[in-house]
Amino acid sequence: MNISIIGTGYVGLVTGVCFAKLGNKVICVDINEKKIEMINKGVPPIYEEGLEQVLVENKNRIEATRDYRYATQNTDVTFICVGTPSEDDGSIDLKFVEEAAEEIGKQLRNKDGWHLVVVKSTVLPGTTGEVVLPLLERHSGKKAGVDFGVAMNPEFLREGIAVRDFLEPDRIVIGYYDDKSREVLRKLYSSFSCPIVETLLSAAEMIKYASNAFLATKISFINEIGNMCKKLGIDAYEVADGMGLDKRIGRAFLDSGIGWGGSCFPKDLDALISWAKRIGEESNIISSVVEVNKRQPLKMIDLLKKHVPELKGKTVGVLGLAFKPNTDDIRESRAIPVVKQLLKEKAVVKAFDPKAMENFKKMFPQIRYCSSAEETLDSDAVLILTKWEEFKKLDYTEKIVIDGRRLLEAKNTAKIYEGVCW
Ligand SMILES: NC(=O)c1ccc[n+]([C@@H]2O[C@H](COP(=O)([O-])OP(=O)(O)OC[C@H]3O[C@@H](n4cnc5c(N)ncnc54)[C@H](O)[C@@H]3O)[C@@H](O)[C@H]2O)c1
Repeated sequence: MNISIIGTGYVGLVTGVCFAKLGNKVICVDINEKKIEMINKGVPPIYEEGLEQVLVENKNRIEATRDYRYATQNTDVTFICVGTPSEDDGSIDLKFVEEAAEEIGKQLRNKDGWHLVVVKSTVLPGTTGEVVLPLLERHSGKKAGVDFGVAMNPEFLREGIAVRDFLEPDRIVIGYYDDKSREVLRKLYSSFSCPIVETLLSAAEMIKYASNAFLATKISFINEIGNMCKKLGIDAYEVADGMGLDKRIGRAFLDSGIGWGGSCFPKDLDALISWAKRIGEESNIISSVVEVNKRQPLKMIDLLKKHVPELKGKTVGVLGLAFKPNTDDIRESRAIPVVKQLLKEKAVVKAFDPKAMENFKKMFPQIRYCSSAEETLDSDAVLILTKWEEFKKLDYTEKIVIDGRRLLEAKNTAKIYEGVCW
């Protein structure tokens, strides 16, 4: 198939590159000139394991442009993969989705033949049918379900293992407005062996939010249990292992620590809470999940102060800035509130991350960035905030280590070791 992808961030680029790997011709559209240039040179503008290799291997089937006209004229299906950030009050900001829908609509006006528009961005229930579809109709002067198709196909990939997740998903969800759109997406995904859920546009949208809210709930839940365990001298990981053997519960997402971050859970939960309010429904559980997550990273500072009571002038080494390993993404990373608090208490912060330092520098230019993880260890105490593989190989003997991510290598060797929930 010939596919265009609007927005070449984590989701758009991975989607485009993977569709190209599966034999489709792909045109990526972005408003960011630098990203377009890099993609056309075969260099991914983001770090994602394996992405560069797949991009290079399929270069003859993938190109990037700013030109919506070129992209829509030369493809049959367009995926909207632009960001859906939060407004200041937590509600969803749809401006990128609206801009993309408007632009696609304008191009469809002059396109002969049927075209399918698929929303892949995470949007609240009702958005595809009540915001995107009318914008497409208004700007194209054409009729949805007749002249063009509309579908909603949420993405569940995880940053860090995005390529693998895209190619081997647990399920594919297809929300469809019209039968032809369903057929085209069925065909596009026909080589995938996972279950395919076909449903209403709004149910597809809700499946994505409910999934993220549930996963975040599991983490905040085990963190709350983990905090109790810490007080009682119980290892929260043993508790999680014992719980996880129950098939109704499952072991995944029961690793306690300093909480969740990233580009999705925080904004998606905020959007769901704010939307629940708008429709006059309660979101007590989800609101508590967010509250627990706000407090959790600061447990690191409490534990640190047990061993270094006065932080002023003390050097604190921070290992890990990305919101999780194998990504350069620092959006809502738990390192942000921790570093903020350290600076507030006038500690000297020296940090290292294998991939995320450039991004972190933009937010915290005032801290010291080390050229290696070893250099970070030369501090009064060390905080482990991201579980990067290479941190396992460090020599923690003689160190005070406060661990937010359960690095057993540090636990077994440090002079003083405190795990946040164990
Ligand atoms: N990142 C994830 O792990 C993940 C996983 C599942 C779903 N999602 C959802 O996917 C969507 C995209 O997320 P992301 O992390 O890839 O975002 P991102 O911010 O990394 O990328 C968005 C891209 O869209 C481009 N863009 C913005 N407006 C545009 C326009 N009008 N035309 C063309 N390009 C435009 C931006 O320049 C940027 O490159 C969001 O709704 C997000 O919630 C993200």
